[in-house]
Order: sequence, then structure tokens, then C-alpha cells
Amino acid sequence: MQPLPLDSYLNRFSTAIRACLGLHPLVALCGILLLAGCGGGGGDNTIQIGEYSSLTGTAATFGTSTHKGATLVMQETNASGGVLGKQIKLLTEDTQSKPEEAATVVTKLITRDGVKAVVGEVASGRTLAAAPICQSNGVPMITPSSTNPKVTQVGDYIFRVCFTDDFQGDVIARFVHNSLNLKRAAILKDVKNEYSVGLAHYFAQSFKQMGGEVVVEQAYSEGDNDFKAQLTAIKAADPEIIIVPGYYNEAALIVKQGRELNIKVPFMGGDGWDSAKLLEIGGASMEGTYYANHYSTSDPRPVVQNFVKKFHEKYNETPDAIAALSYDAVSILMDAIRRAGSTDGPKLRDAIAATKDFDGVSGTITIDNNRNASKSAVVLASGPDDRQE
Ligand code: PHE
Repeated sequence: MQPLPLDSYLNRFSTAIRACLGLHPLVALCGILLLAGCGGGGGDNTIQIGEYSSLTGTAATFGTSTHKGATLVMQETNASGGVLGKQIKLLTEDTQSKPEEAATVVTKLITRDGVKAVVGEVASGRTLAAAPICQSNGVPMITPSSTNPKVTQVGDYIFRVCFTDDFQGDVIARFVHNSLNLKRAAILKDVKNEYSVGLAHYFAQSFKQMGGEVVVEQAYSEGDNDFKAQLTAIKAADPEIIIVPGYYNEAALIVKQGRELNIKVPFMGGDGWDSAKLLEIGGASMEGTYYANHYSTSDPRPVVQNFVKKFHEKYNETPDAIAALSYDAVSILMDAIRRAGSTDGPKLRDAIAATKDFDGVSGTITIDNNRNASKSAVVLASGPDDRQE
């Protein structure tokens, strides 16, 4: 069997479930944004924005996608005259997929370069390591895609443009319980990853409230590559579905090794599965899997279709959700600088906080009082198990 092309994975399903999902009372959170700041940042004719991304390391596609989305906005903005009469300069630093490196490079961006605002990271653990530095320096930060609830609790300069994991965990639970009609779940989570631990917790909480049962819970650590012991224990508990709230590298290996152990039940993950590498690594084993995500390339809204087209023209690839969220985060930052009429930290922070009904690629974005964004989710599926459609 041939691996499914990513486009087919994304396009085939997606639509399905955007759905009911937005209606839950928890609805959500996540939010937006970015921002600006004080400091030196750019001289008279430029405004410097810092970006910290995992361009290398275990989650390298997260950083490269973020960078592509951010670069596209910056180039479009500069081509149309810039902001407040100035050109935007994006200063990009690699976190190497490590939290300590995230803290180091963000300190550098703020104290050495004097950036007015910071965009990043994707992974919640790395964002949590760097956000306090932005907060204490009064430099607005917008994470495009970190979903752990704790991120924006760091302080009033910290924003996001995505939903949060209490919402995402509930979306996954409702999909499993109500759409797939499965009641016995196993969880295999990355204990070194705050996102994974949080999402596992929120999924279990919602699933149990609905009457579902978590029959076994197993753990691994980012960077592991042999999951046979955990999968054997999971198989013995006879679950109807296996939830893997981790990142794409390990998730794809887990599914692959699960199929090798003759585990036939579906696997499901969250947004951390979002990478072209998922199918490259997992191949045909990814049939019969699902994951929750932030957007679908098959969304017919013009803002989505324009973005997909522009992205494809520039990079010759289909944008993943991280690229879309990064595009939205930087676009919102540009909009906030314009509305603030300034890159002064408090003014920019207030303008970001006032973002309302922004027509983003990843959905309509309003920043709420907790600096999160209320958004809907989609569920993407692959393989023969697309019965929800
Ligand atoms: N939400 C994940 C986290 O907080 C990161 C992520 C977002 C990964 C979107 C893929 C796509 O760690």
C-alpha cells in the first residue's frame, strides 16, 4: 500500500467535523497575538519583530512552517508600503526544539536587538520557557500555536491566536465518544512535554464525564523511538481507540509500531500531529487515524483559498496549520501596530488585546479577556475509517 499524500489526508476529511465543535460551552480559548515593545528595535526606517522557532531538532517542521508563514506576511506588508511608514524586519532565531534555548534566544532578541514584539514558539513547553522574559521586559509576545492553557497566564503581554487544550481535549473526547461511538480509550502520552500531559488530562476529564473509560495509560519521552513495551501493555487492555497526544515524529512511529504488533483499532492525536513528516514516517500505517487541528485547506472561505494559493506559489507546498497560524499571528500584529499608531509596549499590548473579528486563515479571531482566541477545531481523518462523513 502506498502512503497517502498529505493533501489527500488533509482534504479528504477535514470538513467533517468543524462542527458541533465550536459550540461547546468551554469553547475555547486561545488567542492571538503578538506585539511590539520598547527597546532599540530597528532604527528610523524599520520595525524589528523577533521570531523564535524550532528550525532544527525534534520538531523542526514546526519552526520551518512558522517561519514561512511569518515571512509571507512580512513580505506582503513591506511590498504594500510597510506599517506606520516603516518596513518590517523579521529577526529569526532557532530554538533547536529546546526550552532552554528558547529562553536564551528570546533574551537576545529583546536585550541585544531591541525587538518591538516577539512571535513564537509552536511548542507550549518552549513558549512557557520564553514568555516570562517577554512579560518582564514589557515586550508583547504572540504565540501562533501553543495551546497549553498556562501560556497566556504568564501575564498581560502574552497572547495567542489558537484555541487551547481544554477545548481541544474536549473536541477529541466528543469525537471519539459521539462520532466514532467508542467508549474504551487508551492514552499514550509524552511525559516530558507540557502540551502532551495537558492534552491527555483534558481529554480524559471530558471523556470520563461523558461516560467513557480510560482503560490504560502509558508514557514515553520526546526522542524515544521504541514504543513496543507500552503498545504491548495497551494491547493487553483491549481499548477501542488509542489516544496519542504528542508530536508528529513519535506519533508516527507509535502508529507504525502499533500496526506491526497487529493493533487494528484507530489511533487519534491532536494538533501536534500536524506535519508533512507524519505521513512520510508513518506511511500506510496512518490509515484509520484521526487528529484534531486548527484549519483545513479545503475550507472554501476566500481568505483560506487565497492563502493556500499564495503559499503554494512561493514555497511549492501546501501550508500546514502552523503556517496558517503564524500567518494569522503576524498579520494580527501588523494590524495592531497600525491601530496603536505606535510600537510602544503598553500601546501595542492594548491594541493586540483589542483584536476583534479578525478574518484569519485559521478562523475569525477575537482576543478574549484572558488573551486567548475562541476558535473552532477540525478533525482530519485518514484511511477507511472515515465513517463520520
Ligand atoms: N499545540 C501544540 C503545543 O502547544 C503545538 C502545535 C500546534 C503543533 C499546531 C502542531 C500544530 O505544543
